[in-house]
Amino acid sequence: MTLTSKTVFPVAVSLMLGLNVAAWWHVSIQTDLAAQAPSNGARQAAASPSAADRLITDYAQQMIAQGRQTFRYDTFGSEAFWGDALQLHRAIAGAKSGGVGDGVSPKAALSIGLKVDVDALPTALQAQIKAGKVNLDDPATTLALLKLNAVVGVTGLFDAGGSLKSMGIQCAFCHSTVDDSFAPGIGKRLDGWANRDLNVGGIVSLAPNLKPFTDLLGVDAATVRKVLGSWGPGRFDAELDKDGKAFRPDGKQAGTLIPPAFGLAGVNLHTWTGFGSVPYWNAYVAATEMHGSGTFFDARLATSAQYPVASRSGAANTRGTPDRVTSKLAALHFYQLAIPAPAPPSGSFDKAASTRGKAIFDAKAKCASCHVPPLYTEPGNNLHTPAEVGVDAFQADRSPTHMYRTAPLAGLWSHQRGGFYHDGRFATLREVVDHYDDLFKLGLTEREKADLVEYLKSL
Ligand code: HEC
Ligand code: HEC
Repeated sequence: MTLTSKTVFPVAVSLMLGLNVAAWWHVSIQTDLAAQAPSNGARQAAASPSAADRLITDYAQQMIAQGRQTFRYDTFGSEAFWGDALQLHRAIAGAKSGGVGDGVSPKAALSIGLKVDVDALPTALQAQIKAGKVNLDDPATTLALLKLNAVVGVTGLFDAGGSLKSMGIQCAFCHSTVDDSFAPGIGKRLDGWANRDLNVGGIVSLAPNLKPFTDLLGVDAATVRKVLGSWGPGRFDAELDKDGKAFRPDGKQAGTLIPPAFGLAGVNLHTWTGFGSVPYWNAYVAATEMHGSGTFFDARLATSAQYPVASRSGAANTRGTPDRVTSKLAALHFYQLAIPAPAPPSGSFDKAASTRGKAIFDAKAKCASCHVPPLYTEPGNNLHTPAEVGVDAFQADRSPTHMYRTAPLAGLWSHQRGGFYHDGRFATLREVVDHYDDLFKLGLTEREKADLVEYLKSL
């Protein structure tokens, strides 16, 4: 018999299969052995962890503690921008306390989505607030809260005489909220949760001096205010100061929703458009958006056609001195990976319907082909063209990838305010499901759609 491709092929395939079977068999034997002795192994590990194992556990704990500190409290020197340059602290203090205008009362601060950390309030003050003895209409109370470091994501810097002299912001400003356990907007910190109540544009537009923006973007203050006013609660535009695109071509606002910073372990690319990894984006934000003092480098952003503003400002090669960011990136990364997506509250979805919905997600609706459980994004290069998900390219084209990242869906229930997809174009989960039903011609029945929505609420 002569060897032709027809005969070689099956032989080769069966050889490959044979090898695979052998490899699989080997693995499964090892797994069986491991399964027989897990308690032994676990007991040994618990009784006498080796020095090397202890080192790893201690390191992990230290990194989480450091990362939490940075995430919650580190301004990275951003007070040079928010306070010294924009003078935002003066608008918060108000004329009566040495600033300008009426000032921002705690009620006003809460209504634009700022949150108060109840654990930073002394017990006596908590009792006074409960008893209605604290004036929440008085900006002086806001200053007192800032002195206690109780405003989530905002740090006030005070001089020796007790006057507010500057302010900076933290990651927690946009990516933490509170559990409302004390009162609406006042409670225990929930790190990693997207603050969809926060009106970032509304807060920034209070700044007495918008010159840093007008200079950078080459427009007047009224235009800057119009742009800031267009985002609304839960949105921010992290590309505006790179590409100068203040509005979509259809005239709608160009901000994106604040995504959660939890449930990110195992997910490859981050941001709605997959700019890069978690530490990539953390450096981008700390050095170029929060305007901390740090290093950020990405040659992709130096292209004048896509990023005219960044190529003028040099943001693609940001070298702030002293560098107050780089030494914190590792622990900050670690901390975010350690934050699990929160489980949905009991009773917030229909269990039986969500079980049926899971089967639809996995099979008929093909959702799981991109949102691969349990990461709910693809292991690998988790990006798709705008056409693949049936949306326009505006936001994708603001990213070096020109793509949209498959959104990881765990904890979806916690960020329903503001809608879904990068810009919140779908107001409800039902609208998202209807969109896919049309796009992929799924032919889902009313009941299947409802079941799928219950499943999404259960993730
Ligand atoms: C002013 C609000 C704001 C601040 C402050 C902020 N972020 Fe974000 N963050 C956003 C927005 C908006 C996006 C989405 C950006 C995009 O896709 O273009 C984002 C995206 C992210 C992502 C990607 C999440 C995902 O699902 O891929 C991570 C992680 C993140 N931020 C962490 C941080 C950290 C850490 C800090 C502090 C160094 C920080 N952010 C500061 C608003 C903010
Ligand atoms: C081709 C890959 C792909 C398929 C198939 C797919 N998705 Fe998506 N999904 C994406 C991408 C990419 C995004 C992000 C879109 C954006 O940011 O504008 C997304 C976003 C979402 C969001 C919004 C998440 C958020 O945080 O706003 C939900 C919900 C969702 N998908 C559910 C589903 C369901 C349900 C199905 C099945 C009916 C499905 N997806 C099928 C790729 C896919």
